[in-house]
Amino acid sequence: MSEISRKGIIIAGGTGTRLHPSTIATSKQLIPIYDKPMIYYPLSVLMEAGIREIMIVTTPHEQINFKRLLGDGSKWGINFTYGIQNTPRGIAEALIIAEDFLNGEHCVLILGDNLFYGETFSNGLQKAMSLDDGATIFGYRVNDPSRYGVVDFDKSGRVLSIEEKPVAPKSYYAVTGLYFYDGNASKYAHMIRPSGRHELEITSLNKIYLSKELLKVNILRGGVTWLDTGTHKSLFEAAQFVNVLQSRQGIRICCPEVIAYKNNWITKSDIMILAKDLEKSGYGDYLLKVCDS
Ligand code: G1P
Repeated sequence: MSEISRKGIIIAGGTGTRLHPSTIATSKQLIPIYDKPMIYYPLSVLMEAGIREIMIVTTPHEQINFKRLLGDGSKWGINFTYGIQNTPRGIAEALIIAEDFLNGEHCVLILGDNLFYGETFSNGLQKAMSLDDGATIFGYRVNDPSRYGVVDFDKSGRVLSIEEKPVAPKSYYAVTGLYFYDGNASKYAHMIRPSGRHELEITSLNKIYLSKELLKVNILRGGVTWLDTGTHKSLFEAAQFVNVLQSRQGIRICCPEVIAYKNNWITKSDIMILAKDLEKSGYGDYLLKVCDS
C-alpha cells in the first residue's frame, strides 16, 4: 500500500477546566498518564504512522514547557514546529493555525489527550495513510456516545451522519480524536462558523467532507483501546490501564524513544545517551533493555 506523505498536528491547548485544580498551573497534556507525560501517547501514534514533521499547538504561556519537554524533536529524529492557540476556539482552529506549516499538504490531526493502543490499530493507520482524497475519522463503540462526536454509518461503512454531542445519538460510535485530512483541510476550516460553545468544531469540518461524499470512517474494533483523559476519573482509569498492561507484559507502551529507534530514526548509541538521563526513574533502564534485545 503506498503511503501519502503527511504532516502531523497535536492540539495541546485548552484550559483543562474539567481537571482543575490539577491543571491550574500546568497544561493538561503535560501531566502524566502513569509513567510518562500525556502528550507522549498521541505523539507515539503519529510516530507509529511514520510522521516526522509535527506541529504542537499550545496556549501561549504553556509553549515554553512543551519546548522544555520535547525540544525541536531532533533527539528523536523528528522535527517539531510550535503553533499558538490564543484562546480555546476549538479543535478545527488548529488547521488554520497550521495553515502555513501544512502548505497544502495532507495531514493527521490528533488531540493531545487521546490514548490509542492495540495490535490491530496500526493496520487502520496504514489504511488511512494511503488514502489520497478526503478525510478519514475513527469510530469507537462507547456506552455514553452523547459525550462525543457521534458517527452513524450503513452496513457498507458509508457515513450517514456525524453530530457533535447529540442528545439523542443515532449510534453508539464515538468519533475519536484522530483525523486524517487531504490538502484542503485548512481551506475548509476557514469556512466554519463558531458553534454554540463559541468553538470551531472539528465535527463541522468533518461535515464539510461528508457533504462532498469524501468522509470515511474506520471503526476501531476489539483489541484496540481508545481512552480520553478529560476528567480525573478517566485520567485515573487510563493510568490504571497503562500500569496493568505494562506490569503484566514487562514492556512500556508509547515511548517516543523506542518508536524512533524501531523506525531507524535514531541509532543505538543515541538511545543509550537518552537512557542515561532517565535512568533514575526506571524509564531509562527500559530504554537500555530495548536496545539490548
Ligand atoms: C472533542 C470533539 C468530539 C470528539 C472528542 C474526542 O470533544 O469535539 O467530536 O468525539 O473530542 O475526544 P471535546 O473534547 O472538545 O469535548
